[in-house]
Amino acid sequence: MTRAEVLAWLREEDPARLKKLWGRADRLRRRCVGDAVHRRGLIEISNHCVRACCYCGLRVANSKLPRYRMSDDEIMAAVKQAVGFGYGTVVLQAGEDPGLRKDRITGLVRRIKSETPLAVTLSLGEREPEEFCAWREAGADRYLLRFETSDPELFAKIHPSLPDKRSDRMALLKVLGCLGYEVGSGVMVGIPGQTFGSLAHDLLAFQTMELDMIGVGPFLPHPGTPLGSGWMPRALRAGAQVPATAEMTCKAIALARLLCPVANIPSTTALATIEPEQGREMGLRRGANVVMPNLTPVRYRAAYEIYPNKACISENADACHGCLDRRIRALGRWPGTGPGGRKRVASKS
Ligand code: 5AD
Ligand code: FES
Repeated sequence: MTRAEVLAWLREEDPARLKKLWGRADRLRRRCVGDAVHRRGLIEISNHCVRACCYCGLRVANSKLPRYRMSDDEIMAAVKQAVGFGYGTVVLQAGEDPGLRKDRITGLVRRIKSETPLAVTLSLGEREPEEFCAWREAGADRYLLRFETSDPELFAKIHPSLPDKRSDRMALLKVLGCLGYEVGSGVMVGIPGQTFGSLAHDLLAFQTMELDMIGVGPFLPHPGTPLGSGWMPRALRAGAQVPATAEMTCKAIALARLLCPVANIPSTTALATIEPEQGREMGLRRGANVVMPNLTPVRYRAAYEIYPNKACISENADACHGCLDRRIRALGRWPGTGPGGRKRVASKS
């Protein structure tokens, strides 16, 4: 698909034409990754964060947020729940938290890999290559690190860097791939300052990077952050700003499927947050094949507030499990079994 075609779809507003896009993405999803919906049990192990991302509620300057770090026992209890529910993967996610020491994560990964059949995905932010290496050796299968936007200027604007460290997510994603991880990345749709051209560039980057997993969700303003005040750049008024809507997110999901047919693509919690009734289903019917049921203990959930009114904030693991199971089956699909890793393509033309 050319950049012009991607752009035209992003700007398309005619419901009849969009129906064609949804249909194409859905058919390709079925042909390339099947009807099973893989469930990745999400455990939000720490909400401490040293970074100051301008959109995220976990940013270090948000002093209103009560901070927590789960104990190994709490994490293992959630992991065992994932096994009980029949999930194939657990995702250990956190803010960028140096308090989660390399050796502790190594030990946890070893334990999960030796005590359960689960695939382990880590999503712990920008860490050191030697940490990635140690965790991979301990058995971690996948790593998620969204690049958020491929526009370097916009990236720099919304990601103040640490004094002694320049952030280069594209380089880190390459390192992860070289270490043998399945690599996941993605972007937010409708970040203030994101133009249609830049979102088209993001989508084409997914293809060049040959990502194994692609997560996209709408930007949701958090009042405790610099981007949460409702401020919008002048570009919005000129019609250049990408709107942070469910429909635009679905376009990004559908186009990601067309560009990366065998990728694992979640219908994200952010999409379910902006569209509580039908968000999950919209994603799953327009290219997605993965969901991420939340396994974080209820007492910590509200504190993992990357954006406000996050879906599932007061549900426990059982409720999310049942809810997603019903939603998947109501679509005529079924929960996937096994780790649900990347489909290997024999050769690339
Ligand atoms: N709105 C939507 N998504 C957000 N994320 C962080 N903050 C927000 C927000 N305000 C997303 C980022 C991050 C992922 C874990 O959550 O894309 O990579
Ligand atoms: Fe958590 Fe529906 S997925 S309540």
